[in-house]
Amino acid sequence: MSKSALVTGIMGQDGPYLAKLLLEKGYKVYGMIRRHSTPDYSNIEYLGIHNEIEYVEGDMTDEASLISIIKNIYPNEVYNLAAQSFVGNSWDQAKVTTEINALGVLSLLTALKFFSPSTRFYQASTSEMYGLSHTDGFQGEDTPFHPRSPYGISKVYAYWMTVNFRESYNMYASNGILFNHESPIRGIQFVTRKIADGVARIKLGMAKELRLGNLESKRDWGFAGDYVEAMYAMLQQEKPDDYIVATGQTHSVREFVIEAFKTVGITDWEKYVKIDPRFKRPAEVPALRGRADKAHTVLKWKPKTSFISLVSIMVEADLKRLKNIQKSNG
Ligand code: GDD
Repeated sequence: MSKSALVTGIMGQDGPYLAKLLLEKGYKVYGMIRRHSTPDYSNIEYLGIHNEIEYVEGDMTDEASLISIIKNIYPNEVYNLAAQSFVGNSWDQAKVTTEINALGVLSLLTALKFFSPSTRFYQASTSEMYGLSHTDGFQGEDTPFHPRSPYGISKVYAYWMTVNFRESYNMYASNGILFNHESPIRGIQFVTRKIADGVARIKLGMAKELRLGNLESKRDWGFAGDYVEAMYAMLQQEKPDDYIVATGQTHSVREFVIEAFKTVGITDWEKYVKIDPRFKRPAEVPALRGRADKAHTVLKWKPKTSFISLVSIMVEADLKRLKNIQKSNG
């Protein structure tokens, strides 16, 4: 019999990449969606897998809905990718961020504990938990957490709850501590996609400027398609554990901007970029750079996509998308 997996957050960026990988491995994939009058399947359609997923309705803030799903399908694996994942919004919506990202995880773990305790559980943890903290310029599994946003704080709670279910009830529950990972289906509010889309618009004469916040913050950016392989590998180990997934390289937002403009042949990028305080955060995470040695050794995982290829994949995808829009508008 083929294995089954429940993926929460199936409509986001990582859900479709992970679902595609699981389908290729022969899994039956259930995708949890919230009730919407008009659900947006565009990311799933982008990867061409819409018809292969079985959708189940549920909400991280509604424990009964999670119990009902778990009791109906008894999945072999659960990948919890559902979240209010935009750090910038989390100050204005701290409570709902906490309800989804922290208490939602408690509810899901509780549902598994009572109704399907042998299910393997993956929690989408994040480098945002480190915030200000680093060890010689890197963040490793042993670096202490110092979150800088309500989002980061909610994720620290979920991280420890995952560890606690593992230690208290002997459940197979693992945390993937993923550093920033991007793709053409990244939400438009995240800085990489905002830059890719903005640069493509400027190139095509559809926009005159790109408004951004802090250009100096540094991130360890990888490709989402590579990172879902590490998620999968984490649940195939003999024992549950927590792993950093990162490239080990860091670049500033400014470098991303320069590289994106370079992709379309524009060198005088400063003419187009305007700094807008609305996109600055009350507390910033200045620099992230992950040390993924454990993932290299134990999971045999390595990133395949370089920073420069990532930027060009994203800008080219937005150019293509926008050209199609221009064409269909005549
Ligand atoms: N979004 C955004 N918009 N960010 C900007 C802008 C802007 O106009 N200008 C500068 N930035 C800076 C932010 O201040 C931040 O330092 C950096 O760009 C990256 O911002 P995001 O792309 O929004 O991502 P993030 O690093 O805050 O969070 C992402 O990565 C985490 C893992 O480290 C999200 O995917 C989180 O969900 C994830 O956990």
